[in-house]
Amino acid sequence: MSGLNPHFKAALQSALERYETPFYAYDLASIQARVGALRAAFPKAEVFFAMKANPRLGILRRLLGWGVFLEAVSVGEVRRAYAAGFKRTEVLLNGPVKTPAALAELKELGVPLLGLDSLADAERVARHLPGSHVLLRVNPDLPVVTHDHLATGRGESKFGVLPQDVGQALEIARAGGLDVLGLHVHLGSALEHPEDFRAGYAVMERLYQEYGPFEVLNLGGGFGLGLDLAALAPEALGLAERLGVELWLEPGRYLVAEAGVLVTRTWGTKQTRRNFLLVDAGMSHLLRPMLYGAEHPVEPLYAGGAPQTFDLAGPACESGDILARGLTLPTPQEGDALAILQAGAYGSSMSSNYLDTPRPLELLWTGEEWEVLRQRQSWESLLLEEQSEG
Ligand code: LLP
Repeated sequence: MSGLNPHFKAALQSALERYETPFYAYDLASIQARVGALRAAFPKAEVFFAMKANPRLGILRRLLGWGVFLEAVSVGEVRRAYAAGFKRTEVLLNGPVKTPAALAELKELGVPLLGLDSLADAERVARHLPGSHVLLRVNPDLPVVTHDHLATGRGESKFGVLPQDVGQALEIARAGGLDVLGLHVHLGSALEHPEDFRAGYAVMERLYQEYGPFEVLNLGGGFGLGLDLAALAPEALGLAERLGVELWLEPGRYLVAEAGVLVTRTWGTKQTRRNFLLVDAGMSHLLRPMLYGAEHPVEPLYAGGAPQTFDLAGPACESGDILARGLTLPTPQEGDALAILQAGAYGSSMSSNYLDTPRPLELLWTGEEWEVLRQRQSWESLLLEEQSEG
């Protein structure tokens, strides 16, 4: 995976002159290129961007303009999708838990396409929202290779119904008056092995032969950044063709991860038994290294002195607050900036207010200017929900 595009890197220097760190910055051209690459690999597929990866309105609205739809997983995300201008039929709500209150809220808001995740979910959705257009999520019970937290297609994960339960779930849905468009599989996230997808496709082919015909086949997302998508795509397209269905996809990371960086400044070095570079971003801003052991490349935005090996240490009161380990970087001066790469997906969206840390500023480079997608959260706003009603 390559480093920063030189134009974007130059733009980051201009952002550093205007904005305090830490901040997220995204390159619009990169997102657009990924949409183009996906469309080229999967002509005719309907693309539902997994908005959990990056839900900024300024990004969602661009995607809408390019004909990309959204995959959501909470009523909050559905509200956000509608606020960005998406129509009900352009939003697909998945998720294992849909409470009666959430279903009532959807009725008010306008019911999107719905993913059914279990027998109980099928029954409840039918009871509250009869007539809805739904897909049934299958748990293909496969040994998917990825981090344990990111595998959803293994038999022991909480997602979907096992192949042997598909018939019963379909009966419940149809008896309850739901319009079942098709089946859905999402094997997991950050998948790098095409064989995992092939195994998933084979399970779906069998199920379509047994329970079809359907109108739609939703093969989910999960494309890792190192996956050869162009090689895999013809197999997915061939399957959809054989089954006579419309192909749907739900990529998150693939579209936005490489477009985004987290920019942080260093405020010194220190040594214990390891050599640390101290920075102003940490686990409150980017949780992936701590939660999944994710390795994000780091690119210095300074020239610096002789190279040294550092761990990048954040400001939190936790030993795990290390953004990257064993990095060889030119020795920086106080205030020098670094870009943490591949942070456009699940970076800001998984940030938190841990330690009263305000959520960071988020910027979009349009090719001409920096657009503020989201202001840095004010510290005062952290107190709002605690103010008593008097
Ligand atoms: N479809 C469904 C039903 C999903 O649950 C997800 C992600 C996606 C599509 C998009 O997956 P992607 O193409 O982005 O891999 N926080 C983790 C990733 C969790 C993904 C959850 N579901 C991370 O930072 O890697």
